[in-house]
Amino acid sequence: MQSFDWIKDTPHFSDEQLEELLSTEDKTAIETLRKRAVSTVFKIYKNSIYVRGLIEFSNYCKQGCYYCGINRMNQDIKRFRLTYEQILSTAVHGYELGFRTLVLQGGEDPHFTDEFIIKIIRGLKENCPDAAITLSIGIRSFEACQSFKEAGANRFLLRHESADEECFEKLHPNNQSFVTRKAALFKLKELGYQTGTGFMVGAPGSSISTHIKDIKLIRELKPEMIGIGPFIPHHSTVFKDHPTGSIEMTLRLLAILRIENPCALIPSTTALNTACKDGRIQGILHGANVLMPNLSPPHARESYNLYDNKVSSGLESDAHLRELGNYLNKYGYRLDFSRGDYRGSSATCI
Ligand code: 5AD
Repeated sequence: MQSFDWIKDTPHFSDEQLEELLSTEDKTAIETLRKRAVSTVFKIYKNSIYVRGLIEFSNYCKQGCYYCGINRMNQDIKRFRLTYEQILSTAVHGYELGFRTLVLQGGEDPHFTDEFIIKIIRGLKENCPDAAITLSIGIRSFEACQSFKEAGANRFLLRHESADEECFEKLHPNNQSFVTRKAALFKLKELGYQTGTGFMVGAPGSSISTHIKDIKLIRELKPEMIGIGPFIPHHSTVFKDHPTGSIEMTLRLLAILRIENPCALIPSTTALNTACKDGRIQGILHGANVLMPNLSPPHARESYNLYDNKVSSGLESDAHLRELGNYLNKYGYRLDFSRGDYRGSSATCI
């Protein structure tokens, strides 16, 4: 019998160890990994599960990412964009429900110019003064990101999607490159954003070895937030017949990322919950500590289909939130509505 004792205390797994963790069929070893992930996050954030209010404000996109259902070539979806007033009222509704992080997420929609984004950030700051503002709006210029920061944005999500250049190129048209994406992430850190990155597990062209590169990019970047989920095909993309990424692989990667990044804020993602019935809690039981319920109005939620069957149930009422809270309590967790900033300054974190 091979010994997996090293799972309990290795600070950074070697490439060989990562390979073993991602390919072994030894259930005890994987359970050891999971338990270590859970105890790692507990030391920093206790049993808090932070909630972020997600506002999907536009599914227009100028990009042509091959895997994504809202890519510009897709003629088959209803496009929508929220007005300034709708964005603000959605945010205020979330704020009144207690959310203290608001995430503005959208396709790369030229209608939302840099000036318009600044106006939205200012509006949010005015109406929801103590809420953290997270942007998830693709790549913008350094100057634009700087002015968003000055206007009051605190965090920025930009997944790298794959840290393997060949895989990145398979997933994106050639106006995008891994080198540019990586540089943009480091710029966001330089600007002082709490920065989030992440990738799709089992995306076309990915493999254990490309996921090891993802883990190593995350070591290098040290992001404050890490979001991963299984790839899920969308019926009107070229990858419509590609299988959904493995749930088990996603959960193992989550656990590894948690162990290596004790202070990171890691969501249990919608993709995980879409691909797996109890994905939301499984993510938490593998070290995730964030949930991002959708606050957008129903018509927006229904059309923001990055992949097929995306779970679109909202958590827009007190009753829904209480239900989620009770559900988490059963597993020993509690919903935490505070801003939930990164605790990186703590001595326990790297
Ligand atoms: N399957 C899973 N995740 C996807 N995303 C986009 N398309 C898909 C898909 N088909 C993810 C990307 C993007 C995030 C907003 O959604 O990682 O960064």
